[in-house]
Amino acid sequence: MTATGGAQAPTRVAVIGAGQWGQQHARVFSAHPASLLCAVVARRRERAEERAAQWGARPYTSIGEMLASERPDLVTMSLPNEGHFEATLEVIEAGVPLLVEKPLVFDLAQADELIEAAARRDLFFAINFNHRFAETVRRAKGAIDAGELGELVFATWRFGGEPGTSLHPHANLIETQCHGLDMLELLCGPVRSVMAQMTNKTQGVYSTLAVALEFASGAVGSLVGSYDSSYAYPWAQLLEVNGTSGRLLVQDTVKRLDISMAGDETRRVWEAGYFNDVDREFHRTFDKHADALLRALRAGDEPPVHARAGRRALELAQLIIRSFEDGQRVAVPVPEPASR
Ligand SMILES: NC(=O)c1ccc[n+]([C@@H]2O[C@H](COP(=O)([O-])OP(=O)(O)OC[C@H]3O[C@@H](n4cnc5c(N)ncnc54)[C@H](O)[C@@H]3O)[C@@H](O)[C@H]2O)c1
Repeated sequence: MTATGGAQAPTRVAVIGAGQWGQQHARVFSAHPASLLCAVVARRRERAEERAAQWGARPYTSIGEMLASERPDLVTMSLPNEGHFEATLEVIEAGVPLLVEKPLVFDLAQADELIEAAARRDLFFAINFNHRFAETVRRAKGAIDAGELGELVFATWRFGGEPGTSLHPHANLIETQCHGLDMLELLCGPVRSVMAQMTNKTQGVYSTLAVALEFASGAVGSLVGSYDSSYAYPWAQLLEVNGTSGRLLVQDTVKRLDISMAGDETRRVWEAGYFNDVDREFHRTFDKHADALLRALRAGDEPPVHARAGRRALELAQLIIRSFEDGQRVAVPVPEPASR
């Protein structure tokens, strides 16, 4: 069984949420050779019909009705950041495999409820940490795992842009910097403690924050996240990982990876080549994730990025908030490798 077809019937996918990013969900799963987009669920009838016609699927305005009529093999969800919990629970309780968007939710008890409800049903439950599928990240992880950087000493993540529509006082940290928390642990291993500084000077919520991190390995790190910046700026996103023998730098997630060796003024650079639009485009990180996800689902395996990773990013975010509120360093539980 392969994600590229073979004798297996296409995976029937329903997309819930037809907003801006939901369009990417519809595009990705209607384009993949191993899947077929059967349904789109929107809040308003006109929107559902418009999107369904655009993507060759059937329109619905009720999740329950869609699940009962379509019986999809996979549901993918792209709902407003603060509206994930009830809809996700409904799909889990219906026993349908699912891919949800980040953040998993904003509340750790709700995250646990979702993870446990899915575990009770042994359900395929994935989260879209699509940054992991950038070519820069694949190569960065390869270089780190091969020991090219030596022993890791520090890592820095910075990501800044404009605010969305969420009202939560820590929206930037929870809904956007979850990508950074996930990425730093993917590359540098588990975080052991955090200390935070935040400002609410412009928007009345904590729109910019700086966090000092200590990894279980003894390395340290920093995360700067902001909704007081602009995605129009070059290097809206930057990631640096520095080891005893080398350093790597990722620019704008998909644009460029530099790997330098200590004392060497030459360096290795990856940038997408002239015809390589796939690796040049941010949205294609989702296509690559979908490819791995469909392959896993069709083979009966665990998702490539289990929703537990969303719970972990939320757990880190909640401890960062506690650190800021208490004005203290806060210890972070270090999970067993299998549960991450
Ligand atoms: N992984 C990524 O790189 C990435 C990028 C952008 C956005 N996102 C995530 O995608 C999600 C959606 O973001 P967006 O920018 O498209 O938001 P959006 O507000 O544009 O879209 C959400 C849509 O869901 C609809 N909706 C609300 N409740 C519904 C319900 N019960 N049933 C059906 N539809 C319902 C809304 O009407 C809206 O059209 C967010 O969680 C966001 O964080 C992820």
